[in-house]
Amino acid sequence: MKIKTVAYKGSKRKLLENIEHYAREIGAQSFFDGFSGTGIVGAYMRSKGYVVQANDMNHSSYIYGKVFLRGFDVEVVAHHLEVMNNIEPVAGWLTENYSGSIWRKVKPNALTETQEMMSMSWGHPWTQFKATLVGGMAWRPLGYTKQNAMKLDAARDYVANLSGVCEDNRNALIFSIVLAADKVFNNSNDQKSALKDWTTAAKRGVKFISPTLIEGPLGEQHSGNIIGMKLKSDLVYLDPPYTHGVLYASCYHLSDSIAKWGKPELDHSYALPRPLEVCYRKNGETAGGFYNKETATAAFHKIIGDADCKRVLLSYSDAPRNTLTIEELVDICSNYGTVRIESKDHRLCMQPKNMRKISTNLKEFFIVIDKKGR
Ligand SMILES: C[S@@+](CC[C@H](N)C(=O)[O-])C[C@H]1O[C@@H](n2cnc3c(N)ncnc32)[C@H](O)[C@@H]1O
Repeated sequence: MKIKTVAYKGSKRKLLENIEHYAREIGAQSFFDGFSGTGIVGAYMRSKGYVVQANDMNHSSYIYGKVFLRGFDVEVVAHHLEVMNNIEPVAGWLTENYSGSIWRKVKPNALTETQEMMSMSWGHPWTQFKATLVGGMAWRPLGYTKQNAMKLDAARDYVANLSGVCEDNRNALIFSIVLAADKVFNNSNDQKSALKDWTTAAKRGVKFISPTLIEGPLGEQHSGNIIGMKLKSDLVYLDPPYTHGVLYASCYHLSDSIAKWGKPELDHSYALPRPLEVCYRKNGETAGGFYNKETATAAFHKIIGDADCKRVLLSYSDAPRNTLTIEELVDICSNYGTVRIESKDHRLCMQPKNMRKISTNLKEFFIVIDKKGR
């Protein structure tokens, strides 16, 4: 079964079987996904019969998890999706802020592909075209075509105003809109900027489809900062951010805005407008948590130390700009039980002192901590 969810940096879609293997090894029946992101890990584990709890800070992740772990009524949702697919497009918050193209500052001499082609086919010399960029200005797409943004606006308002629909079905419809928006957004990498030229996917018409219905024991999705949360399950899985270069609340702010639909005030000075609350640097705030060495060290001690479980499974990668090195992380973990470290396919070694040699070759790791006395 292919589980439909959004494109996301650090998604564990390709590691689902590995993760389940670590739960099966200890005969786990319950599973806590502490950083649920796209929700795919919890969805998969539920489908394999585990009682899943999950958590993430971002509101869009809360919606994905609710839908995967609780389900929805297929017929009711199909009826509303049909209405939404035939809805009259109306310009609203998305259209106003994220559609069409804007004339904005770009890197000097950065012609778009289209401009380059035009300059060639019209026989203009390059230099003449580049002259239009005096002052480093050019037309750039904002994210959605106007027609798609209008349809997304109309559908999201329709779901916001639906009465007599239960929370599970409403969440499924919201998930469907976030999925549809993700498919036609003019950048599949993140939502901090849009690409220079419209992609084929962005030019396709937006289409609302049902989220994947997962069968399995009923689960629970939480929403909030994991630091200080009580984590109780046979296996606690932690897949935190690895680097301050990928600040999730900024990378996926549009999915969060569509999920919440509070139509927040935006800062328009970014390549793509951003809600004021995720303009961390401008607000003079540091992201803290898992994006900073000191706060991440303290957080890992607290979470792994307090987790009421047989096993903690931690995903991490090794790259020069990461918040912590694998060695530092293994050092922390060693305080709380027996530790082994593995790559996707192999057990690597059990000795933290050999880590440096290993991490020069491999980038993605599982750290398995079997807790003392469990
Ligand atoms: C590497 S991604 C997880 C990806 C997920 N395993 C998947 O397969 O989709 C890290 C996630 O941690 C979340 N996050 C970051 N800091 C957090 C915190 N302090 N508490 C809870 N979630 C947090 C981010 O919103 C992001 O979704």
